[in-house]
Amino acid sequence: MATAIIVAAGSGERLGAGGPKALVEVAGRPMYEWSVIACEDSSRIERTVLAVPPGEAESFTVAAAVVVEGGATRSESVAAGLEVAESDIVVIHDAARPMVTPELFDAAISALAGDPDLDGVIVAAPVSDTVKQVGPDGLVSRTLDRSELMAARTPQVFRREALVKAFAGGDLASATDDASLVEAAGGRVAAIELPGPNPKVTWPTDLDVVEALFARSRGRVPDWRVRGC
Ligand code: CTP
Ligand code: MG
Repeated sequence: MATAIIVAAGSGERLGAGGPKALVEVAGRPMYEWSVIACEDSSRIERTVLAVPPGEAESFTVAAAVVVEGGATRSESVAAGLEVAESDIVVIHDAARPMVTPELFDAAISALAGDPDLDGVIVAAPVSDTVKQVGPDGLVSRTLDRSELMAARTPQVFRREALVKAFAGGDLASATDDASLVEAAGGRVAAIELPGPNPKVTWPTDLDVVEALFARSRGRVPDWRVRGC
């Protein structure tokens, strides 16, 4: 069984809601609750740790999670959660991706649990744009081979030992995801393809997209999404 760390301690500068992004409502609930519910309904997650903005703990009322104070950067928030995670497998997920499902958590955890040579499994999506490398002079220096590119998302699942080692020796300030720290520490990380949409709420228009996707999914996967915590 795994521990999930939901990182919800960001301030949501780009969303500009005037408060923590994780508390902004999506489909009738504070955004972070969707991820906590999905953890609760995962058959492989036994404990959910929620990293919240310092001083905001009482605003996060969901009973299903252990609440810890996050840090100034995303990696510091993950590290705060990691301190109270005791299981061999640890799942990291952004509260800003409320469309995660129990099935997605379970698929990533199963992929890691089933391969003893792996230190981590990330959920990723094939890149549909053509990606250019552009220099500071604005000139394109290279077109990357799209067939080998995937965009990293969350959840990302790791053996706790590998993640603790990667965080202890890693450059936390510049890491943009957790897997990059494990990779830098020599860990083996596999990517599994994301089966459906799991967009991140970053900008105000992302809220419209996520609301529309939630509305469309109603009736198809209602049993766990409409259940209370
Ligand atoms: N996060 C966190 N602690 C931080 C920064 C980010 O737990 N110090 C979390 C966010 O709550 C979010 C996820 O990491 O669930 C991805 O971060 P991002 O989308 O950048 O969210 P914010 O940092 O809140 O947004 P912004 O960068 O626009 O301020
Ligand atoms: Mg941020």
